[in-house]
Amino acid sequence: MLTNLVKQKDIFYQQVQTEILTAKINKIYNLDVFDFLHTKVADNSIDLAVIDPPYNMKKADWDSFKTHDDFLNFTFSWIEALLPKLKQDSSLYIFNTPFNSAYILQFLVSQRLDFKNWIVWNKQDGISAPKNKFVNGSETILFFTKGKPVFNFDDVREPYKSTDRMKHATKKGIIKNGKRWFPNPNGRLCSEIWDFSSERHKNKVNGKVQKMQHLTPKPKDMIEKIIKASSNKNDLVLDCFMGSGTTAIVSKKMDRDFIGTELNKDYYDLCIEQLKKYDG
Ligand SMILES: C[S@@+](CC[C@H](N)C(=O)[O-])C[C@H]1O[C@@H](n2cnc3c(N)ncnc32)[C@H](O)[C@@H]1O
Repeated sequence: MLTNLVKQKDIFYQQVQTEILTAKINKIYNLDVFDFLHTKVADNSIDLAVIDPPYNMKKADWDSFKTHDDFLNFTFSWIEALLPKLKQDSSLYIFNTPFNSAYILQFLVSQRLDFKNWIVWNKQDGISAPKNKFVNGSETILFFTKGKPVFNFDDVREPYKSTDRMKHATKKGIIKNGKRWFPNPNGRLCSEIWDFSSERHKNKVNGKVQKMQHLTPKPKDMIEKIIKASSNKNDLVLDCFMGSGTTAIVSKKMDRDFIGTELNKDYYDLCIEQLKKYDG
């Protein structure tokens, strides 16, 4: 009797979850991350999560926490809310500072996700000029997976660095382990060091930083690389800190479905405006 009741409850819960999913994809909500994850995203529905959360850099209200512990509690809580949403075979990318990423990495390992890469995003944009340490010019992108998700390594090849050597190798090949090796015409396998200029840097006029519509938009070409590598057409991509809507726009452009949220109303409006622009 009790087992039957539990089963019925499970079935009901699954139906609610399925309705949530089928009704609301390709939509950005104006909700807090926790409301959004608990009420709008079905369990076991996400193929790829691309998450660019607050960093606690104190550059805006939404990025300021009283203490580092408060920041970590918030971060670990949204990760806990997100993990059940991932499909059995899925990928998760999380942006942050190298320092914060060291904590986030340990938490993800404790949640039994599989570590793939500590990607270094070389922003080519020195943010400060410290005299007691090296300049912080990079951010970290943690890449973790669950199960055996897609990884389209051929779609994200990058140019070989040693062009002269490759010219020679293309003609005659290079002997490697007793075999003649020829370079791949589409370039080398992608490394975990990524060079993309930050939007802030790209938009400078005469070396001066310009005010942007969002404080920290991610470069579209970098998000494109993540989506290309770790999803296929019609897969569902999640972003629960949409900002200016970069993940949604790139997903749409690449024929992926998306779902996400942005709490700040001005940024939410910006997301909707950007998506409309993309629609033409
Ligand atoms: C680092 S930005 C994301 C930028 C985005 N990747 C882009 O390319 O524009 C983080 C965003 O999270 C939003 N945010 C902060 N706290 C939130 C919360 N509790 N729930 C939902 N969104 C939140 C902020 O308003 C901010 O726009």
